[in-house]
Amino acid sequence: MSELAGKVILVTGAAKRIGREIALRLAAEGARVAIHYSTSEADAARTAADCGGAPLFRANLESVPEIERMFAEIDERLGRIDGLVNNAARFTRFDPLNVTEADWDSIHDVNLKAVFFCCQQAARRMKAQGDGRIVNISSLGGLRPWAEHAHYCASKAGVIMLTRALAKAFAPQVTVNSVAPGVIPFGEWNDAMTAMLNATPAGRVGTGAEIADAVVYFLRASNFVTGQTMAVDGGLSQR
Ligand SMILES: NC(=O)c1ccc[n+]([C@@H]2O[C@H](COP(=O)([O-])OP(=O)(O)OC[C@H]3O[C@@H](n4cnc5c(N)ncnc54)[C@H](OP(=O)(O)O)[C@@H]3O)[C@@H](O)[C@H]2O)c1
Repeated sequence: MSELAGKVILVTGAAKRIGREIALRLAAEGARVAIHYSTSEADAARTAADCGGAPLFRANLESVPEIERMFAEIDERLGRIDGLVNNAARFTRFDPLNVTEADWDSIHDVNLKAVFFCCQQAARRMKAQGDGRIVNISSLGGLRPWAEHAHYCASKAGVIMLTRALAKAFAPQVTVNSVAPGVIPFGEWNDAMTAMLNATPAGRVGTGAEIADAVVYFLRASNFVTGQTMAVDGGLSQR
């Protein structure tokens, strides 16, 4: 997909923050962006308006029937799907000694299970069309162990392996790649972020626009680029 103009690309969790930046960038490239959200209705409406009146799709991605309904709605309203950016996720911090089953499921249902079933729904359609691009947003936490985020790290490491396995499963028509962001703050700050910033070779935190650049690279790349994870982290994963 060397040209994004006119392509139908779904971005999950696109109301705010990184997802919004990806959606804005894809709209600027001329794509027909489908904006997914769950609870942030007003923010999603603003992103959709800023994308030139993009269509909105609401779904709780914890539920596979809701994922299936969302893709059926995309079929009805947009007629096809060329790209999928799995961006929606949860992030929580717990001492692993205290993590409950509910804490574990809350993370894995969105960060890993939903990513798999969105990939499945998209790839069925893309393979039938003969072409498609999937980009999964993972995390530096899927590459490096963070003690108080063991549950989150496991979910994001799962996204990276899912990317590799599905790249083989869906080839040659559909590519599956991943972008692993480092520290991308939107106003929030804490001591852990200061420690990460101090260890980052680039000497700064990143921006949503820099994550969007990497997403666009994978969406535009030929099918010779698949199964890859690109860390966009100022070099922090190399430490
Ligand atoms: N920000 C960072 O520093 C950073 C670092 C590493 C990796 N990442 C990854 O980059 C991606 C975006 O990060 P972010 O910080 O911008 O994300 P975020 O604001 O924490 O979450 C993005 C969106 O995910 C959606 N979401 C959560 N649970 C959902 C559910 N059950 N069903 C449907 N949607 C759900 C939410 O949509 P609604 O608001 O509409 O409910 C939310 O706005 C994530 O995959 C994250 O893990 C971020």
